[in-house]
Amino acid sequence: MTTTGAKPQGATDEASAALAVREMFDAIAPRYDLLNHVLSANVDRLWWWRAARRFRAVLADPDAAVMDICCGTGDMTMALLKRRPRGARPTLAADFSRNMLSRGAKKFGVGARKAGEPYAVPLEADALQLPLKLGSLDLIVSAFGFRNLANYEAGLREFHRVLKPGGQLGILEFSEPGGFIGKAYAVYFRRVLPAIGRAICGKDGAYSYLPVSVGNFPSPEEMLRLMSAAGYEQCAWQPYTFGIAGLYTARRGAVA
Ligand SMILES: C[S@@+](CC[C@H](N)C(=O)[O-])C[C@H]1O[C@@H](n2cnc3c(N)ncnc32)[C@H](O)[C@@H]1O
Repeated sequence: MTTTGAKPQGATDEASAALAVREMFDAIAPRYDLLNHVLSANVDRLWWWRAARRFRAVLADPDAAVMDICCGTGDMTMALLKRRPRGARPTLAADFSRNMLSRGAKKFGVGARKAGEPYAVPLEADALQLPLKLGSLDLIVSAFGFRNLANYEAGLREFHRVLKPGGQLGILEFSEPGGFIGKAYAVYFRRVLPAIGRAICGKDGAYSYLPVSVGNFPSPEEMLRLMSAAGYEQCAWQPYTFGIAGLYTARRGAVA
């Protein structure tokens, strides 16, 4: 079986691809939030909010075990926490970049929240080898992180392993829209965005890597096929903002 995954420049195998991604995020962490909001004109906030709203039923259950994987600086996690009731079981927020995660923890960690407010527990972990037991989660969400995994099939299998039977998966990712919007967006995404990224960040890597990684990411049809092949049911894709981004959703089958 052929596998697919992120291939940052210079990476020769999955281990070197993962290391390159982690080092890149560690390096851009101090500027990540600023860059994100500038480059997306704050539309990213709407995407996180919509993704969280899609899972409002499970998030409203105080006992639900929820994880935001590839949480980075925590804005998806914060959107999830807004929908958790007071006193809810803490949400897990996991990432393998310590610099990204420590910034996130300043927003979602217990120390940053008022008494009784829902909070998240930071977990430094690799999405491909989660330190969690089989069948332990009701919901896994990932925003703009899945594309960076060194092996997409392995990532889907690992999420499937840690989801409870009937548990839900949501993957928010960029995609490449077609038609006129797609052409106009491609100019922004491939030329303007890396230039702004370079100007704010002073580094070339990450914001040149972004359009390349989106271009290499499976199409929605292919991604849905990978999800089905990994054993998920009810696999679907909901495009956001003309298909610039979109939410993949699926369930682990109810039978263990
Ligand atoms: C583009 S950022 C997204 C952060 C956040 N979810 C958001 O929406 O802003 C991608 C994050 O995925 C993390 N990541 C990439 N590959 C990972 C892996 N194999 N395991 C854990 N985290 C990973 C990176 O460290 C980075 O923080």
